[in-house]
Amino acid sequence: MPYRPGSAVSKAFHHLVELCSRKPMAERVDMSGRKVIVTGATPGSIGYQVARTLAAWGADVAVTCPRNGKAARETLLRELRDAGHRSNCIEALRLDLADARSVTDFAAWYREVSDGRLDVLINNAGILRDVLWRWREQRLSADGFEIHWRTNYLGTFHLTRLLLPMLLESGRRSGDARVINVSSHQHDKGSNDRLFAPPDRLDSWTAYGQSKLALIHHAFELHRRYAADGNLRSAALHPGSAYSNMTFGWQDEPRWLRRTKRLVTPLAPLILLTPEQAAQTTIHCATDLHLEGGHYHERCAKAEPIRDARDEAASRRLWEESDRWFRSLGQR
Ligand SMILES: NC(=O)c1ccc[n+]([C@@H]2O[C@H](COP(=O)([O-])OP(=O)(O)OC[C@H]3O[C@@H](n4cnc5c(N)ncnc54)[C@H](OP(=O)(O)O)[C@@H]3O)[C@@H](O)[C@H]2O)c1
Repeated sequence: MPYRPGSAVSKAFHHLVELCSRKPMAERVDMSGRKVIVTGATPGSIGYQVARTLAAWGADVAVTCPRNGKAARETLLRELRDAGHRSNCIEALRLDLADARSVTDFAAWYREVSDGRLDVLINNAGILRDVLWRWREQRLSADGFEIHWRTNYLGTFHLTRLLLPMLLESGRRSGDARVINVSSHQHDKGSNDRLFAPPDRLDSWTAYGQSKLALIHHAFELHRRYAADGNLRSAALHPGSAYSNMTFGWQDEPRWLRRTKRLVTPLAPLILLTPEQAAQTTIHCATDLHLEGGHYHERCAKAEPIRDARDEAASRRLWEESDRWFRSLGQR
């Protein structure tokens, strides 16, 4: 059922209908020889399930985790390799999207270990801080941006921009390169006005929605710029409401909530999708041979984002402003 933006009540109803109806699964595609990056693949996350499936379908998958230590990365790699037909996962590397240096280092590392080849970039990593709406002030990144904007959108723009030459090369060679942005139905909390004139006060959910709207603009603009000439298809998606580290790993939670959570966590599968179920639309967009780029997807099918997302002038302006920021980092 295509998503219709609306109130919290209609979203909850929509989610319930989803829970009770058949959960679509992506159809298996042979991904042998395809090189894929999945950002944000910590165990327990949706990205982890995406990476596992793509490795099992034969892709060479590189995954990223921002904070995990070496031991956790090695466990993740071992599991991914077990999921694959062969030891086809390149490696897991640290990537902090909110840190320009980390993004640059990651891109340089990837270029080297992959011989400059990248077929599919899955921009999955993201944050939603302060699920409980308790922050009174915006939280800023080290370089002064609102933290959701910096991590979910600007960091993703930066990474994609650095990897773009490899994707275009792959598009020319294989005829099929892709950028898949994991957005959210919460993008309907965003608006184009706020993209260019962010207010001083912004609660975390609105900030999250704003960054997710920007990710849809980013996917659509990429598609407009590079689909025809570069064979680079781009799409955005909502994975569904799932229980993951994001849903259950709330920061600074009060003790009563931690206790309640412990009690309700076993019930999570009754009210939310599993990370594996939530991974399906991402996998579908990354692999479906007939995927029509330049669209928003839900439940492994095209869906309609809010009207602001279809404003081409806003997408173009956002791209140009983000690109100016990118160049101000001394990069091209
Ligand atoms: N779960 C849902 O219901 C839902 C609904 C709609 C959309 N989404 C979107 O789906 C995507 C995956 O979410 P999830 O539910 O799987 O959440 P998750 O379990 O919290 O996974 C998010 C991933 O992003 C990584 N990450 C966090 N901060 C980062 C940074 N600064 N730089 C690079 N990576 C960073 C996390 O690493 P750490 O674990 O080390 O923090 C983790 O690997 C996100 O984009 C989210 O917005 C989720």
